[in-house]
Amino acid sequence: MISVSLSNSIDWEKFEFVGSPRVERRLSDLCGCFADEAAYGEALSHGDPLIYSVSSQAPADGAGQLHYGLGMIAPGRVGREYYLTKGHLHAWREAAEVYLGLAGEGFMLLEEEATGESRLLQLGKDRVVYVPGGTAHRTVNTGADPLVYIGVYPAGAGHDYGTIAEKNFRQVVTDRGGRPVAVDRAEY
Ligand code: F6R
Ligand code: ZN
Repeated sequence: MISVSLSNSIDWEKFEFVGSPRVERRLSDLCGCFADEAAYGEALSHGDPLIYSVSSQAPADGAGQLHYGLGMIAPGRVGREYYLTKGHLHAWREAAEVYLGLAGEGFMLLEEEATGESRLLQLGKDRVVYVPGGTAHRTVNTGADPLVYIGVYPAGAGHDYGTIAEKNFRQVVTDRGGRPVAVDRAEY
């Protein structure tokens, strides 16, 4: 007998899967994520807006099973840096992930842990990004509307936020003359 939840619908007003609440990340939750600390402090002094949310589904656990989450990043910037997710590695390093863009415009910043190599890849409506195992990933909204996507990953992937919190990504996704570019943090 099939006993797991097999389908879902998206509530496009709340940006969540119907029946499963979302986790919200506000500006105050993102201390240390933005390169420009003065701009971060200035932005916080004006309020604590919602930056992004994730509504997760874990239909089944165990080897071979998948989990997935619906992410929404609001449009906006702190200084010249676009609103972003904290970013993470998977605790089970081999675990890969597929991101499916549903709406909006943005990018994923990938950083291979073993080599430090960075890649900036477009994510938005009709774009798909494959995140290999052993690769830190952060998502940014570079558009004027919410960036909405689904990430699908092995049930046992787990999330390691600590490694990124300690040293952050090597690159920063920033606005240069109205266009998004990735620059080295040291040069930012
Ligand atoms: C799951 C995954 C996404 C993120 C989401 C929020 O492995 O990559 O569902 O969880 O984009 O980003 P973080 O988790 O970095 O806050
Ligand atoms: Zn992930």
